[in-house]
Amino acid sequence: MKSQNLIVDVEVNSTSSTDLTNLLKRKLGEKTIPDISELSDLWGADSFDLQTVDLFKEATLSEKKMILEDCARTRLEEAYHIEKSGMAFTSKMTLLADTLDERKLYCQFSADEANHLEAISAFLPNISDNYKTNPFIQLLGDIISTGSRRPLIFIIQVLLEGWGIDHYQGMFNTCHSIALGEVLSKIIKDEAGHHGSGLMLFDEKEMTPTEHKYVVDTLRIFFQMVQVGSVGTLDSIEKARGDLSRSQKIGVLHQIESQENANRKLKVLKKLMHKAESNRIIEELEKYNCFSAFDYQTVVQG
Ligand SMILES: [Fe+2]
Ligand SMILES: [Fe+2]
Repeated sequence: MKSQNLIVDVEVNSTSSTDLTNLLKRKLGEKTIPDISELSDLWGADSFDLQTVDLFKEATLSEKKMILEDCARTRLEEAYHIEKSGMAFTSKMTLLADTLDERKLYCQFSADEANHLEAISAFLPNISDNYKTNPFIQLLGDIISTGSRRPLIFIIQVLLEGWGIDHYQGMFNTCHSIALGEVLSKIIKDEAGHHGSGLMLFDEKEMTPTEHKYVVDTLRIFFQMVQVGSVGTLDSIEKARGDLSRSQKIGVLHQIESQENANRKLKVLKKLMHKAESNRIIEELEKYNCFSAFDYQTVVQG
């Protein structure tokens, strides 16, 4: 692993000069004012499939609050870092663009990502360094750093931004905050445009064998992260209730239907790949069995 990833490692809470901050404020326009200040109140237990989990139901009120807060923070921080990476992605694509129209489009998308980042951060009073241990954020940074134009269009725009629409829609459907709901629906609308242009620009037949290999190798790593399921929920429960035994972990994964959820996400990803007519990539990933979630025994090693 590299020692520094320029995409991921840009400082989270960097202090800039007051002049620069004021100028940026004017460019970003009206600031989002959160209508709910407690992270634990943004989503209910159902949003994280916790309502059927015995260890959650048996928890004290303050433990429940702690679990919901951690789940919400993890969700928002991941979104924050995805939007931050989105700015780096669109900036790189601006330079790699084949035509002037394409370049103009990526410049517009860059501004969208900066707006998304700003709006999401309004709901995060302080951002932790957890992202440094988030393998998905690290992988995303590596892909943006190392990918060339065509693989980036496919992996980021077609797949990840398409998947992002589904992910943000899920967050929107169960969100208790009107203000965050407005932010999420704006993001969903913008991401649909980003994804749509990816579909227009991508043509599997144009890919070189090296690009094809890069896409397949990278997606195998990414798919594994999806195949594992909702293991992040286990961490949130452990933080509030202490270490869980292997059988408790398997029990929680069963109760939150982690495998079913992972299979649903894998189906969404496959559908997006079909939409882009990327049949050779699908075939290759099928050979590696990438479209089925791992069973709980595999996910929770003894
Ligand atoms: Fe975005
Ligand atoms: Fe985007």
